[in-house]
Amino acid sequence: MGRIVFFLTLIAAGLAIALFVFDGDVPTGGQTYAQSSGNFGLRQTSSPDASTASPPAAVSTPVSASPSQSPINRCVNMGGALEAENEGDWGYTIRRSDFTRIRAMGFDTVRIPVKWSAHADPLPPYSIDPSLFTRVDTVAKQAIDAGLQPIIDVHHYDDINEDPKGHTPRLMAIWKQISEHYANWPDDLIFELLNEPHTELTAKRIDKLNRALLRQVRETNPDRWVILGGGNWGSLEGLMETNPPYDPRAIVTFHYYEPFEFTHQGAPWAWKKVPLGQTWGTSEDRQDVVAHLTAAARWQEKVGMPVFLGEFGVYVEVDDTQRAQYVEFVRRTSERLGMGWCYWDWGTTLGMYNLERETLHPGFQTALFAD
Ligand code: BGC
Repeated sequence: MGRIVFFLTLIAAGLAIALFVFDGDVPTGGQTYAQSSGNFGLRQTSSPDASTASPPAAVSTPVSASPSQSPINRCVNMGGALEAENEGDWGYTIRRSDFTRIRAMGFDTVRIPVKWSAHADPLPPYSIDPSLFTRVDTVAKQAIDAGLQPIIDVHHYDDINEDPKGHTPRLMAIWKQISEHYANWPDDLIFELLNEPHTELTAKRIDKLNRALLRQVRETNPDRWVILGGGNWGSLEGLMETNPPYDPRAIVTFHYYEPFEFTHQGAPWAWKKVPLGQTWGTSEDRQDVVAHLTAAARWQEKVGMPVFLGEFGVYVEVDDTQRAQYVEFVRRTSERLGMGWCYWDWGTTLGMYNLERETLHPGFQTALFAD
């Protein structure tokens, strides 16, 4: 008994030190990670100049804690559905059968982007339309029934990127409602605070916002896994600029679409228009991916929180062999480095599944699941 008390005391002391170390910001320092191209993970930035920004300072103070184990390994984004103003506007409505299929393929998680801001009052108390909750409940429950962990995020809250100060109270109110609504749901449900912060929502501002949102979520959901991201469109550069609040049940996310000219070639919504026909696969191309993802994985060790590759993929119109080759390499590299990943997306813009033919796009089974 005395030994148990002694060990418990030791653990408690360790925890107290860890909490002390992590209270508030994660310390930053001057160390930078190797970059092979100087522009990692930048996407859809309004100005191409951003890609020449000086390398971000990375977290350098070693911490003793090893990252907690993320529950997310293999995930797919349910893009193009609830991310639209109204589900169905972009031609896709999530079906129960999608989740059954996704689970059978070997995924453990689905990320469900939701445009909550289109269904919340513009004025206080910023009430969310109950019919959106009804729909998200249905979809999230279908995912859980199928054996998947649904991640629900706040996606496409465009105005907060232009006017963070003006929209912070509304986002806080949106998360208060979501947190209260799902407080008693099983642990399988995961929250992601905000997709791809950018423009005026700078690294510093997103850190402050993440801290306030997380504190509020914790009032009602003390143990739920919560995903936080950095600025600069959630890119790798944004990840390495961020100082997220430490939390033992938090995961830090970034999106990876490099080289953007390859992954978004031909895509009508891309900020940089590049015609179809670009290829990927030289040894230099591969080295770049390894260097970028290694930087993310090292960062994960430094901050003691798992890092999650929350989006990656190639535009659906690109040649399938090229798509599959890139996707397989990114997926394998991410797994080798111990990072969970989430393909963008199931059946729309960068789809892995052909919704019309009800079949996978060629090469995707191997690309995402081969040993
Ligand atoms: C956006 C989607 C887009 C995808 C690929 C996501 O973050 O929400 O609308 O299709 O990125 O560019």
